[in-house]
Amino acid sequence: MKLFLDTANVEEIRTAASWGILDGVTTNPSLVAKESRSFEEILREVCEIVDGPVSAEVVSQEAAAMVAEGERLSKVHPNIYVKIPMTVEGLKATRQLRTKGIRVNMTLVFSPLQALLCAKVGANFVSPFIGRLDDHAETGMDLIEEIVTIYRNYQYKTEVLVASVRHPIHVKEAALLGADIVTMPFSVFEKMPRHPLTDLGLERFLKDWQKVPKA
Ligand code: E4P
Repeated sequence: MKLFLDTANVEEIRTAASWGILDGVTTNPSLVAKESRSFEEILREVCEIVDGPVSAEVVSQEAAAMVAEGERLSKVHPNIYVKIPMTVEGLKATRQLRTKGIRVNMTLVFSPLQALLCAKVGANFVSPFIGRLDDHAETGMDLIEEIVTIYRNYQYKTEVLVASVRHPIHVKEAALLGADIVTMPFSVFEKMPRHPLTDLGLERFLKDWQKVPKA
């Protein structure tokens, strides 16, 4: 399973990349707005740090404008995946961008049928938002299970990118369901390597080592 960071903060990306487990990055307009820097400047820097897919979202609403914006973003770096919202215009734009060989991550997906349509237009990634469903008292992980089943039934190549992740259990459950990718905020990323028993065990080993006679 690939692990992506869901942030536009270059320092967080640099830190996660230094651990050797970062496969890619997703951004969205809200995350970019937090950084007070130009979008293209951020994208260029992120693509220098991470050797993997970097999602950059369009803000146009109409297919032709989405395609033009997507083409411009895709020229920033070969690793850019254009993020297109799951709307009818977004489906049209995705089909056109894929025909041009530009890679697409379809975002704001909240139902299995939306995910089916994303696969049919050839999206490379589909991004179901599980945390936002949980916030509405719907079980977001059920959506992942349904999408994984549908894609397996028809051998769709679209990869399931679990988004809107709130805590490490989401990552574990997505892995158990066989999702291809999970994108998460740095606050979740940094919790994954930790376990109190690891810290306690290490402390005990180091303390006991002091008792070993030195040669
Ligand atoms: C995915 O690509 C989105 O950027 C993101 O996961 C949304 O998460 P949120 O619901 O925490 O804003």
